[in-house]
Amino acid sequence: MPTITCVEDFRRLYKKRVPKMFYDYAEAGSYSESTFRANEADFQKLLIRQRVGIDISDIKLATKLFGQAAKLPVCFAPVGMLGIQHAAGEIKVARAAEAFGVPYTLSTMSICSMEDVAGATTAPIWFQLYVVKDREFNLDLIRRAKALNCSALVVTMDLPMLGQRHKDIKNGLSIKIRPTLRNIIDLATKPTWALRMARTPYKSFGNVIGHAKGVDDLTSLLTWAAEQVDPSLTWKDIETFRREWDGPLILKGIMDVEDARIAADLGVDGIIVSNHGGRQQDGASSSIAYLPNIVEAVGDRVEIVMDSGVRSGQDIFRALASGAKGTMLGRAMVYALGAMGEDGVTQLLTILEKELKTTMGLAGRTDVADLDDSDVLQC
Ligand code: GLV
Repeated sequence: MPTITCVEDFRRLYKKRVPKMFYDYAEAGSYSESTFRANEADFQKLLIRQRVGIDISDIKLATKLFGQAAKLPVCFAPVGMLGIQHAAGEIKVARAAEAFGVPYTLSTMSICSMEDVAGATTAPIWFQLYVVKDREFNLDLIRRAKALNCSALVVTMDLPMLGQRHKDIKNGLSIKIRPTLRNIIDLATKPTWALRMARTPYKSFGNVIGHAKGVDDLTSLLTWAAEQVDPSLTWKDIETFRREWDGPLILKGIMDVEDARIAADLGVDGIIVSNHGGRQQDGASSSIAYLPNIVEAVGDRVEIVMDSGVRSGQDIFRALASGAKGTMLGRAMVYALGAMGEDGVTQLLTILEKELKTTMGLAGRTDVADLDDSDVLQC
């Protein structure tokens, strides 16, 4: 077993352990992948100050994100099909998040259902809603989330149309691996993954199958999912969700000050500055580069979390210095889960905690609440 010391180690191990089409699904951006690359690269451009002569014996990393205590300024992103990256993946990440003390967001398109995950944990989860054409189904998901005491509703705004990721098309991505020679060879080299998947009861999209109209099996689900992405999603729908959901309402995928202002005017509690990990609008700004504009526009009215490109405690520091209250982790969590399951996710959080603490200390900072733009130099 290789020694894991950073997120990149998890990525390498994940690549070895999970079938190629699922690795490629996570490790892809849309079209030219320029935004996908910029997300990470632009973090590096923010240089962190190095300060000395300050007592840093007591460093505080804890915060609250959308009303929920977080031991680190970190929460987990809603990632579809986590349960394919590792058997019962959603339950494993939720458990690791709960034990460590950070919030977990369950995707509409998860393999384990929200009832499965809530039943396996005690900390409240956040539920992410994909708005689909079947508006009754959306409302039913919200009702189910309420019944399970989910403590935030995260509505994804940036997928009214699916960004094209070339790799998924080339790999013929589907939840059922096609028995091509390439896939058989791939699976033969990932026997532990395959054995775990064969044994788990969680094999299809638990939030949808048996709940959405006419979706009773995998084939009908795949047709449903392709047809249901809703290009008519507008702010009017957010007004409806605001009426239906009285807990924290968070909009994910806000990358423009005008949109941020509309969101704030509608009375949402928070926004996630996100370009969907570079998976949607190719050519859009990186999240970290655009973040200060949104903070300036609405930072006094809504809580702001950012995602896309966060790979280290140093990046978490940079995001907070740029005005975010916290960061959402998608790929870093997928790498850790795919590499080592629940233990991997726990180790990931421990690594990030250490990295953030060290970065804070060497910057002469002792509380995440104090970070501001004087802690980074734009070069
Ligand atoms: C869907 O949210 C995706 O990024 O694949």
